[in-house]
Amino acid sequence: MFVNLIQTNLTTSVLGKIIEHTTWTESTNKDAWELIDEGTTEGTIVIAEKQTDGKGRAGRAWISVPGKSLTASLIIEPKIDSRLSGWFPLLTGIAIVKAFAELGLEVNLKWPNDIMVNNKKLGGILCESRVQGKVLEWVVIGMGLNIYEQENELAVELNATSFFMEKSSSIQRELVLAKIMNHIEPLYNQLTENKDPSQLMELWTEYCNHVNKTVKFEVENESLSGEFMGIDTDGAAIIKTNGNEKIFTSGDIHIIKS
Ligand code: BTN
Repeated sequence: MFVNLIQTNLTTSVLGKIIEHTTWTESTNKDAWELIDEGTTEGTIVIAEKQTDGKGRAGRAWISVPGKSLTASLIIEPKIDSRLSGWFPLLTGIAIVKAFAELGLEVNLKWPNDIMVNNKKLGGILCESRVQGKVLEWVVIGMGLNIYEQENELAVELNATSFFMEKSSSIQRELVLAKIMNHIEPLYNQLTENKDPSQLMELWTEYCNHVNKTVKFEVENESLSGEFMGIDTDGAAIIKTNGNEKIFTSGDIHIIKS
């Protein structure tokens, strides 16, 4: 990927001023934490072609295909109430939906962090945070998106797809990343300035593909099915089972009925 091509397409004032590009690394999220410890500033992005220990959610591995996947981690320093931390994967998802819409691909969101096209996974987000007291000091927003992969390059069990498989057309990964950053910045500023996630809640609900659907929900050792009612003011999932609404801050959703 070409750093100057990303930067040419940025309209941000803070995000992406520093971009660290490596051909391969263990994990761009891990690199981001190292940069934070070395004193980097908010807005720095780490990108890589290949990760030897790419991290997915819930301890799963994440595989990137060199030259084809978009693999990036963004560093931010919100210094807001840690209760708002659940909003970072959701606001990133909203930004990704907006970016792909500009590029002609309609994508939607599966709670908490999956980017979907026609019920197939186009990518995922892994946010990691550092909290001190009640203050959310740093957040690393890792994103892995399938751009040019062919079917045989994607893990079958993930039920995955790529931009190329959906559109049969090419796109510069640099442009995709710049557009995502251009959309993250105003959403992030809004969250830190107003401390009010209600607009994010509205947008996320509009882009979600399973509101009011019957879902199987798995969290730790518990598995239940119920209706996905939406998200609460912390970005947590509200699921109704046997007439009772339960709140979940983590877990995996499988859509079983419209
Ligand atoms: C998921 O769907 O499980 C989340 C996948 C997140 C993968 C990205 S790739 C860039 C960043 N670095 C990592 O090690 N993981 C995230």
